[in-house]
Amino acid sequence: MRPTHAEIDLSAVSANVSLACRLAGRDTQVMAVVKADAYGHGAVPVSKAALEAGATWLGVAVPEEAVPLRAAGITSRILVLGPIAPDQADLVVALDLDQTVCDPSLAEAVDRVARARGRVISLHLKVDTGMHRVGIRPQQVQSVAERIAALRSVRLVGLMTHLAAAEAEDPAFAREQLARFAEAERGLAAAGVRVSVRHAANSAALIFLPEARLDLVRPGIMLYGCHPRGRQRHIEPLLKPALRLRTVISHIQQVARGDSVSYGRTFVAPRDLCVATLPVGYADGYGRLLSNQGHVLIRGLRVPIVGRVCMDMTMVDVTGVPDVRVGEEVVLIGRQGAEEITADDVAELQGTISYEVLCRIGPRVPRIYLPSSPAPPPEGF
Ligand SMILES: Cc1ncc(COP(=O)(O)O)c(C=O)c1O
Repeated sequence: MRPTHAEIDLSAVSANVSLACRLAGRDTQVMAVVKADAYGHGAVPVSKAALEAGATWLGVAVPEEAVPLRAAGITSRILVLGPIAPDQADLVVALDLDQTVCDPSLAEAVDRVARARGRVISLHLKVDTGMHRVGIRPQQVQSVAERIAALRSVRLVGLMTHLAAAEAEDPAFAREQLARFAEAERGLAAAGVRVSVRHAANSAALIFLPEARLDLVRPGIMLYGCHPRGRQRHIEPLLKPALRLRTVISHIQQVARGDSVSYGRTFVAPRDLCVATLPVGYADGYGRLLSNQGHVLIRGLRVPIVGRVCMDMTMVDVTGVPDVRVGEEVVLIGRQGAEEITADDVAELQGTISYEVLCRIGPRVPRIYLPSSPAPPPEGF
């Protein structure tokens, strides 16, 4: 087992899913968004834990991500959240996925493949209410829905949109988007089409915008224990970080005052130092922008990175850690003793968000799963 690995606490995932279900309420289903290998946490174990904890749908970005889920015996509804190329329709049909469509030609392509295989595939029509990424305009919904309704091997079961800034302190734009979505719903009614699920809410909308909850919510980041508003809210006590990235010290050396450490000689020792080398680098997703900026935890102390993060190794100044040894545990993301480094802390230093930090943890880093235990119902939020 490589000493650099990510510990995934499935009971934290379960607790976060239970919280999402509780926020969603009795009449709203929860789709666990498990795209990008469950934001780096491992799609199969996370999906199983999420479904056991009350989620009834899974969301993936591309049909290929559903292959390991179906292979693992997961039979729940799985929605492909984005449009696909027509030749990916085979996989959608073979795996019996729900597919997002943004134009009638994709619906027709899925219909052709489904008909050839004697299947009927469920489609969700995506409406662009202000994100300007994918989707049809609300005014087009009636005519597109009429065209899709005429196809025999697909059925329109969902109407969906995506909110561009549900995490903003000011909910005005999200509310504008919901008003445009209501216009799309009227278009659907005018086409005589009834869908079973209308959905719009990501984690931020689920937490902050009750009116966005509709029939189904699509939380992602909160299921992994990160707050959609980022670092200033990382102490939110009810969200439980599910990932701990750890390694061990592989080498210790004394560095004399004036010596430099790592590539480019960006760090020069201001005095004699004790420097430890860690077997983790940017090839593992531990970003090079952390060079001379980030910290790690050793014996519950925050220890600074010195010099550039390399592809496979990183150096830290352990001068202040008493009796430090090779083999000692090092936490890069997560808690150790009373100290914690969150994915948001690491993200902020690199000018990014927790999402990117988590899903960039590479395939070279083994994931180890701590078992899920039944989560007690959370109190308040
Ligand atoms: C269409 C869609 N729905 C839901 C989500 C989940 O968002 P979040 O992780 O912010 O909860 C995403 C993620 O980007 C998405 O693209």
